[in-house]
Amino acid sequence: MDGQGQSITVVPMEPRHIEDLERLEKECFSTPWSFDSLVSELSNPLAVFRVAEIGGQVAGYVGMQHIVDEGYICNIAVFSQYRRRGVATKLMETLSEYAKKNEMASISLEVRESNVNAQSFYEKFDFEVVGRRKHFYSNPTEDALIMTKTFGWLF
Ligand SMILES: CC(C)(COP(=O)(O)OP(=O)(O)OC[C@H]1O[C@@H](n2cnc3c(N)ncnc32)[C@H](O)[C@@H]1OP(=O)(O)O)[C@@H](O)C(=O)NCCC(=O)NCCS
Repeated sequence: MDGQGQSITVVPMEPRHIEDLERLEKECFSTPWSFDSLVSELSNPLAVFRVAEIGGQVAGYVGMQHIVDEGYICNIAVFSQYRRRGVATKLMETLSEYAKKNEMASISLEVRESNVNAQSFYEKFDFEVVGRRKHFYSNPTEDALIMTKTFGWLF
């Protein structure tokens, strides 16, 4: 259930989602993923892309690459009208379950230094800042913080 009593369903990304996800990327990011780059992930064996739906509508998505025992989150985004209702939480829980099932050691990501909202979200899921990539982003140029979540069940 989301914060308004509607159920959030998380499903693997399918071709029917791509147009909405292209729109979501454009809404959220200054250098959005293109339609074609999203399509290419449908056949990427390393890709773990999941879409959250509310009432049959695309509410948000997360994309992760799974390489050996590490995950790398390329993107997570929720349409503005669906934010603060637990959609990203449900997506992150889905990835955590996937990580546990696949005995992954860690998940990492980059986030704009100024994107304190996303950093707050990641901190809630025990991601910690472990490094910085200088001038990683363009439009505008900005450093990325590298954040990593380590899974304790291996130790
Ligand atoms: C970051 C983002 C994905 C969060 O999605 P969401 O569905 O609104 O997140 P949730 O409702 O699951 O939030 C869970 C918790 O994260 C934290 N959080 C989420 N959004 C926050 C915000 N804007 N400010 C502060 N904390 C926030 C809060 O602790 C929140 O719990 P609460 O609502 O009980 O206080 C969404 O704001 C978004 O799409 N932003 C634009 C794209 C983006 O920046 N992506 C990250 C790129 S690195």
